[in-house]
Amino acid sequence: MSTAEVGTATAFIKWAGGKQALASSLAVHFPPLSGKYFEPFLGGGSVFFELNPIEATLTDSNGWLIDTYTAIRDDWAQVATHLDSFKNTKEEFLHVRKIRPESLELHRRAAQFIYLNKTCFRGLFRVNRKGEFNVPYGAYDRRYYDPENLKRASQYLKKAELHKGDFESGILGVDEGDFVYFDPPYYKLGGYSDFNRYTPDQFRAKDHVRLAALCNELDQRGVRWAVSNSDTPFVRGLYARYRFIGVSARREINLKSQERNIGELLIVNYGSTG
Ligand SMILES: C[S@@+](CC[C@H](N)C(=O)[O-])C[C@H]1O[C@@H](n2cnc3c(N)ncnc32)[C@H](O)[C@@H]1O
Repeated sequence: MSTAEVGTATAFIKWAGGKQALASSLAVHFPPLSGKYFEPFLGGGSVFFELNPIEATLTDSNGWLIDTYTAIRDDWAQVATHLDSFKNTKEEFLHVRKIRPESLELHRRAAQFIYLNKTCFRGLFRVNRKGEFNVPYGAYDRRYYDPENLKRASQYLKKAELHKGDFESGILGVDEGDFVYFDPPYYKLGGYSDFNRYTPDQFRAKDHVRLAALCNELDQRGVRWAVSNSDTPFVRGLYARYRFIGVSARREINLKSQERNIGELLIVNYGSTG
């Protein structure tokens, strides 16, 4: 499909586990998109932007993130105007961080999200038990957004349905001929780093088991899918029946150096696309 008329959009937020650097290498292993595209762990959306599908259902359990996409889709310029009003200082950051997102109108809430994402330490998303954002100020000298990119992202998103919720609800309505890309928080060797905390709930081993069961069910229904995860014995065991493609990855947000070089797998339930 041609994107020439709008240019190419890329992720407009920084996200732990973001696939920006890998998106094009992953896409070559995907089947040609004929039906609808589903991405139930949307995060920064790099793969969605890389593919620019004709029709998509995009889901994430982080409601504030999904609200941000909705606002960008519906009126990116209003979000940009709000962003322009924020100063990149520690005082402003601490003030904005304290405001409860639910108390703000949608576009302002989206601007708050993007502002905090661009000014907090390493673009992390972490909330405390009460659901309050608690990442410290990052003191980066960078702009919050690129207007051309936000405009293009808005155009891409007009073809997408956006849902807040668990990944299982994110594939409702999927049919043979559709394609699903799952990019869950990765299974970690030796427990869970605090930086894996995208939402108040952790993504645990039992959730990986639940995801693999869903993949088996989709496979039986003739739905093609690809899953990204860490190259660990646990993950290989869960998907033993399927095809593994090794992809090299640079994990940006990791505390322990031995985890930094961990391999990454793309697991697929279809034959070679090459
Ligand atoms: C590895 S990130 C996805 C990264 C994305 N592909 C990118 O390029 O930025 C995983 C996402 O899954 C979301 N998530 C965590 N648990 C979830 C669940 N049970 N259902 C749906 N999404 C979930 C997180 O909020 C996070 O945005």
